Amino acid sequence: MNKRRILALVVFPVLLAAVPAFGQQNNAPAGSIINHYAARNFIAGSIPKADMDQILQAGIRAPSAGNRQPWFFTVVQNQDLAKRIVRDNVDGNVLIVISASGDGKTNGGAILDCALAAENIYLAAQALGYGSRIYTGPMDALNRDLKTELSLPSGHSAVVLVRVGRVQPGVDAVSAASSRKAPDSLVRYK
Ligand SMILES: Cc1cc2nc3c(=O)[nH]c(=O)nc-3n(C[C@H](O)[C@H](O)[C@H](O)COP(=O)(O)O)c2cc1C
Repeated sequence: MNKRRILALVVFPVLLAAVPAFGQQNNAPAGSIINHYAARNFIAGSIPKADMDQILQAGIRAPSAGNRQPWFFTVVQNQDLAKRIVRDNVDGNVLIVISASGDGKTNGGAILDCALAAENIYLAAQALGYGSRIYTGPMDALNRDLKTELSLPSGHSAVVLVRVGRVQPGVDAVSAASSRKAPDSLVRYK
């Protein structure tokens, strides 16, 4: 093998590793913050309690204004109940309903705090290899019809829920995520 060939064999892979991926960055470690996507390809299968504990711990560890931690987490594992909240819920999916004191819409900063807890749960689930998706669509019906059945704490309304479940292997952010606006239309340095 001549010198030029050897050089190409050594240098080319190094250059490849250094060039950032185009579009979605699929070179980030699996489950990283760059690879997340809102799952829609849930498959049946349960989630071990140890994983649920870690996922919930991520929500509990979320930052909140003044560290007031206004949230409560109701974990819906009962499939009949889960299907009444998210119609296409797949067996084994768990719905984590995050509630706070108030009507779920106008309780000021608590909404933002609950949103951060939801994002932590969403990302933790994906870091553990599960699919997750955030929902606010079912909140009105849930707060109207299911508060008592869910035993939400007194005076609480649901703000957001995160669905967690097993997903089809091999689906990643590149094949599953929707596109995002171009960074230069969203970011300005001053
Ligand atoms: C606050 C919030 C509310 C959402 N509510 C719903 C919902 O009610 N139903 C639903 O199917 N997806 C819901 N989503 C998921 C979004 O549609 C999804 O995150 C977005 O389309 C980006 O998807 P991608 O990450 O797969 O590209 C919600 C997401 C957020 C952040």
